[in-house]
Amino acid sequence: MKIARTVADLRIVSDWQRSGQTVALVPTMGALHAGHLSLVGRARALCDRVIVTLFVNPRQFDRPEDLGKYPRSEERDSAMLEPCGVDLLFAPPPEEIYPAGFATTVSVAGLTSGMCGDFRPGHFDGMATIVTKLFLMSRAERAFFGEKDWQQLQIVRRLVQDLNIPIEITGCPTVREPDGLAMSSRNERLSPGDRSIAPALFAALTHAAKRLQAGEEIEDILFAARKQITDAGFDRVEYLELRHHTTLEPLQHIGEPARLLAAAWLGPVRLIDNVPV
Ligand code: PAF
Repeated sequence: MKIARTVADLRIVSDWQRSGQTVALVPTMGALHAGHLSLVGRARALCDRVIVTLFVNPRQFDRPEDLGKYPRSEERDSAMLEPCGVDLLFAPPPEEIYPAGFATTVSVAGLTSGMCGDFRPGHFDGMATIVTKLFLMSRAERAFFGEKDWQQLQIVRRLVQDLNIPIEITGCPTVREPDGLAMSSRNERLSPGDRSIAPALFAALTHAAKRLQAGEEIEDILFAARKQITDAGFDRVEYLELRHHTTLEPLQHIGEPARLLAAAWLGPVRLIDNVPV
């Protein structure tokens, strides 16, 4: 596995493409876990070459303390990727991505309002900007994103379509711990006590999804699910909402394909999760 630090180092991608090989991109912010490795596995299965990017993007953090505390572990991450058949790890310094004078923001309307968009101002603009840059810098044909960040996945699909970026987006199922907790780099920051409470988020979503499918009253179910999460020991539920699965429009009745999405705080850690309905 080669390590690239500059955009110029990515020129090797043109050589691969000239010889007819397909190129996959797996964007990450590092602190890798089995969820990331499943994206790499899918990329490996579908493309000839795999690029993993490792960049803790300062522009998508709405709170400086969250950026400061974000786990950074390049040595451990590259040791995890090495045996997975990754061809290139792109781990640029911030000045390579945002040189002096950088002045452009990619902003997707509609899908970015509500849910994480309301509680993390600027987050999706920062995410959309870095993802667009990574697509254009790598010129990969296919990119892989986890379904855990469901709102992010819909935004990425939209921007690729709107900007005619020639890349196919593949969403991959959330990887979970045996007790149901969605894998996340943020789980590392849970205290042992909070770690035992954390699976309650997925449990509440799963239970609510079953009740929704059974045709019970939506508002009652959402209220009960929020209560189930705080009763389990979460400090607060930021949002828990039923949305259309792709447009993310709020839904008042079941019938169309839907997603139940939530974010909740456990001590200093904000966890998100979602399930199909
Ligand atoms: O999902 C993430 O880890 C990040 O938002 C991404 C897509 C790597 C962009 O920084």
